[in-house]
Amino acid sequence: MKKTIAMLPGDGIGKEVMQGAQEVLTVIAEQFGHEFIFTSGLIGGSAIDQRGIPLPPETLELCRNADALMLGAVGGPKWDGEPPENRPERGLLALRKELGLYANIRPVKAYECLTDHSPFKKSVLDGVDFVIVRELTGGLYFGKPSERSGKGGAESAVDTLFYTKEEVRRILTAAFEMAASRRNKVTSVDKANVLESSRMWRETAEEVKAGYPDVELEHMLVDNAAMQLIKNPAQFDVLVTENMFGDILSDEASVLTGSLGMLPSSSLSLNGLHLYEPVHGSAPDIAGENKANPLAMILSAAMMLRTSFGMEEEANAVERAVQLVLDAGKRTGDLAFENDHPLTTDEMIAEIKEGLA
Ligand code: NAD
Ligand code: IPM
Ligand code: MN
Repeated sequence: MKKTIAMLPGDGIGKEVMQGAQEVLTVIAEQFGHEFIFTSGLIGGSAIDQRGIPLPPETLELCRNADALMLGAVGGPKWDGEPPENRPERGLLALRKELGLYANIRPVKAYECLTDHSPFKKSVLDGVDFVIVRELTGGLYFGKPSERSGKGGAESAVDTLFYTKEEVRRILTAAFEMAASRRNKVTSVDKANVLESSRMWRETAEEVKAGYPDVELEHMLVDNAAMQLIKNPAQFDVLVTENMFGDILSDEASVLTGSLGMLPSSSLSLNGLHLYEPVHGSAPDIAGENKANPLAMILSAAMMLRTSFGMEEEANAVERAVQLVLDAGKRTGDLAFENDHPLTTDEMIAEIKEGLA
């Protein structure tokens, strides 16, 4: 198969881990007789530096001409002083909105060989295998007004949590579809005891559920969900929630796997052009040091092979290589113990390529 993949490395460790995805995909193409054409675009701080804006039109054009998109990470202290509309993060938010990437799928799986690296007891991690379905183009991130006012913006500030019924229905439908192919359980997480938008979310969940008689629906308040995620994470199959709730809960859930550097994601649209990115950010504290864990990015590439290209065998091969390397005790610093000699990013990428061979 011939596929064009738009690579958007972004900033910080985004660049370092993106290298891993590209090298692994190149090996897969050779092994399975595919042709992957990699195009590359600027986004985030790198785009601000070179083009003055975080999402240049040519990047958007490049994305629209691709079969799938991969993104590293955006942001960093260098650009924290940018005006709100020109921050690196705005580039990513605009990309999600422009391309209609409304469903962010974040699988959380506890690898048995990594349980010693997690702060949790083995008994808590037993059977942890769930998916967070995060709404990605609405909610508190996109509602208007979102602004400062009074005395040059010094006196008050507002953000708005806004959803249309249709936006809520489509993300819940995505969650039910996913549960139907998994363990038939949806946990819909909201703040319906306080927020009007959550009360509409809850009603909509009940309506969508009517079309899925075999899928169990449970409602959970977000504060309780944050607690349940670490008390009894194995209870979850598909957890679906608002944009910001999902952002926070997924970083929390990553600790179950041992590291934020282990969590991949896909961001799905309705038109078949999807984006794949690790859940983590640009990690300014370790950027440029060849220390980042590239596995979240590499596992995101596996998600792309499966979801965008229907390459199940190829995706399995990547995931098997990751499992093999981890089982052999190879780890980057985020998963190493103090007296270990952790692998560099480049060494981990090389190990995965060897694992594929
Ligand atoms: P972060 O995810 O970048 O880092 C949080 C912590 O996790 C850091 O200690 C970091 O070293 C560690 N970490 C993250 N990924 C790792 C990896 N692959 N291997 C090893 N360790 C890893 O979050 P932050 O520090 O709060 O944010 C830094 C910047 O990244 C901010 O500008 C933020 O806006 C941006 N960000 C971008 C994305 C994205 O592009 N999708 C996601 C989150 C944060
Ligand atoms: C993520 C990030 C982004 C988000 C930021 C960088 C805008 O934290 O992808 O999880 O909050 O969605
Ligand atoms: Mn986040």
